[in-house]
Amino acid sequence: MKYKFETNKRDYSDFSSGRVLYYAANTTAFPVRLASEVIQRSFDILEKKGAHGPFKIYDPCCGGGFLLTTIGFLYHDLISELIATDYDDKVLEIAKKNLSLLSKKGLDRRKEEIKGYIKAFGKESHMQALKSVDYLETLIKKEAIKIVCMQRDIADLSDFPIKGVNIIITDIPYGIIVDWRGGRKDPIQNLFENSYNALDKKRSVLVIIADKKSKLKHKSFERTQYFKLGKRQIAFFEPLY
Ligand SMILES: C[S@@+](CC[C@H](N)C(=O)[O-])C[C@H]1O[C@@H](n2cnc3c(N)ncnc32)[C@H](O)[C@@H]1O
Repeated sequence: MKYKFETNKRDYSDFSSGRVLYYAANTTAFPVRLASEVIQRSFDILEKKGAHGPFKIYDPCCGGGFLLTTIGFLYHDLISELIATDYDDKVLEIAKKNLSLLSKKGLDRRKEEIKGYIKAFGKESHMQALKSVDYLETLIKKEAIKIVCMQRDIADLSDFPIKGVNIIITDIPYGIIVDWRGGRKDPIQNLFENSYNALDKKRSVLVIIADKKSKLKHKSFERTQYFKLGKRQIAFFEPLY
């Protein structure tokens, strides 16, 4: 796969899980370079549809919110709302904490917390974390992004209030660290259906990141971009209407 937007590999250590962003046990931290490439491709698709943002972005398998939080920092001025849902209540607590960092107030709170660790333990890693807070603060471009965070089984087809979303981006369970929960027969098809209902049909894109074995196809979507990277496949879909 060739990077179209994030062409130069940068140092992404300011985003490392457990440094400023909170670490969630048994979840995966999504690669920052890939997150940036995928979201820039999504913005490009929307631009071509005449939509210029700010955009409403939803991750229905958000885990600890790492993917949404990094996107939130990197493209703060292009985002109006971030919606994070997951089956697991426990990881949602971490997602809430991570997404709360996307404001000056949230980062100030985290800064005080890290200063407390420095006082108590005097570790070099905490000093680095403090520097990363200062860098992340430069990425905050406006007051705050609207954040919605709640429990949802994305394979459950009952009606849900989230509508008018521009980008759904999600790293679905691969079955290595995390598996599908809720016991539904065909969770991926249900994810497509729920996504279709949540999207603003004329100005939207759905991006699914999965292992290479998952079958990603649905009658209500056209696949418009596709690539593979390492153990992952990344597929971009636009809703048919
Ligand atoms: C690969 S992880 C996502 C990691 C996330 N992108 C991040 O950056 O932290 C997959 C997530 O899917 C969630 N999940 C599993 N079954 C689900 C379901 N039926 N509905 C919603 N979320 C589900 C798991 O709890 C897990 O948090």
